[in-house]
Amino acid sequence: MNQNDQKQAAAEAALDFIESGEILGVGTGSTTNFFIDALATVKGKVDGVVSSSEASSERLRAIGLPVLDLNRTGDLSLYVDGADEATKHLHLIKGGGGALTREKIVASASWRFVCIADQSKLSDHLGSFPLPIEVIPMAQSLVARKIIAMGGQPELRAGFTTDNGNLILDVKNLDLTDPSSMEAKLNLLPGVVDNGLFAVRRADVLLVGTSHGVDQIKT
Ligand code: A5P
Repeated sequence: MNQNDQKQAAAEAALDFIESGEILGVGTGSTTNFFIDALATVKGKVDGVVSSSEASSERLRAIGLPVLDLNRTGDLSLYVDGADEATKHLHLIKGGGGALTREKIVASASWRFVCIADQSKLSDHLGSFPLPIEVIPMAQSLVARKIIAMGGQPELRAGFTTDNGNLILDVKNLDLTDPSSMEAKLNLLPGVVDNGLFAVRRADVLLVGTSHGVDQIKT
């Protein structure tokens, strides 16, 4: 199976986690797009969705699913989303598509987070994918200086604005051996909206598409 086939297989395996009549949280990215395509085949089972980005909302509406406001739904039973990097401890780096803040909000409102990925996303330790950090525009340079002082190498994502009207710094070289502690530390910097470490609220299930099928890793 090539990479897209692996993404599609993981996405389709996530359908098994859906229960009738629930409101689903849906993430962002190419793997999630396969999930949205698969969702179209069982959409009668789902009462509505909460989306983590404008791009996913558009796709979800196009398949005829009501996109609901998290303020009205309350907690969700299931969130399905991809990742840029994942470990067997179910810690993730997300935000390659820039939707990390809304993704973290929906993930943290959900009882169960099923992460879908192809095999290339698995790594022993987080850090090969640059860590995306969403920052308020006026704090971009301040946050970048603080990150350099922490040993990181930030780079502004050129020409990109998040759905929340903010910027993304993609950061290399931070020490991510204790991802929960780095996640919390980065979020204490004034001007940081959120960062792409999903360790405090990690995934509960990781479905990895591989050349021989879909592997399931659970907490
Ligand atoms: C979006 O901001 C990200 O968190 C995505 O979930 C992540 O980048 C995975 O994207 P792909 O499925 O396109 O690899």
